[in-house]
Amino acid sequence: MDGNGRWAKARGKDRIYGHFEGVESVRAVMEAAVEWGIPYISFFAFSEENWGRPEQEVLALMELMGRTMVGELDNFLEHRIRFVVLGNRARLSDELNASIDRMMAATAGGDALTMILFLSYSGQWDILQAAEKMAHDLMNHPGQPVRPEDLSRHLVTAGIPDPDLLIRTSGEKRISNYLLWQTAYTEFVFTDTLWPDFRKEAFREALEEFASRDRRFGKIK
Ligand code: IPE
Ligand code: MG
Repeated sequence: MDGNGRWAKARGKDRIYGHFEGVESVRAVMEAAVEWGIPYISFFAFSEENWGRPEQEVLALMELMGRTMVGELDNFLEHRIRFVVLGNRARLSDELNASIDRMMAATAGGDALTMILFLSYSGQWDILQAAEKMAHDLMNHPGQPVRPEDLSRHLVTAGIPDPDLLIRTSGEKRISNYLLWQTAYTEFVFTDTLWPDFRKEAFREALEEFASRDRRFGKIK
C-alpha cells in the first residue's frame, strides 16, 4: 500500500489524512476478496524501515491501526475472516500487541478469508530470524542436507502459501524489503493509482492483468 502521503498532499491535507482514507481502501479490497472467494490477502502496512519516520506519523499510524482492527471485529466474524498480524512484534507497544492477540484469538476460526497485516515487517528481518532458528536446528543435526523448505518453515509466513500476485500502488516499482523469499515466483502488478484511490475496480483490473499472465515457474509449456 503506497501513496497515502502523496494523496493527502495533493489535497493540501496532512499525511495522516491519507492514511485514514487508505483504511477505506483496505476495507474495500478485503470485501472484494471475500466476494470473489480469494482465500488469502495480505497488506504491507508498516515496514521495519517505517520506524524511521517522524515520531508523530509513527504514533498516528500505530493508533490508527490499533483502533481500526478492534473496530473491525464484528465485520471479521460476520464474514468469517481470520485476522493475522505478522512481523517483528517485539517492537510494537504492549497495548497494540494485546489488541492483536485478542483479535487473532477471536477470529482464529475464520475459514472464508485469511487477512494478514504485515506490521513492523521486513523480508530481510524475516529471513535472518528464520536462518537463526535453522542454524540452531543444524547444530543439533550436523551434516543434514538443507532444503528451501527448511528455511520456509521458520519464516513468520510458515503454513501460509506464497503469494500468487503482489500489487504495488503509487507508481513505485520496487519490493522495498517486503516478502523477499516468498515472492520467488510471484507475479507483480504495478499501478500508478495511489493507495487511497485503490478500490474494488482497481483491484479487479489488477486481477485481470494477473489472469492474463502465463506462469511457467521456470519450466516450459
Ligand atoms: C503508504 O503510504 C503507507 C505506509 C507506508 C504506512 P506512504 O505514507 O508511503 O505515502 P507516500 O509514499 O509518502 O505518498
Ligand atoms: Mg511511500
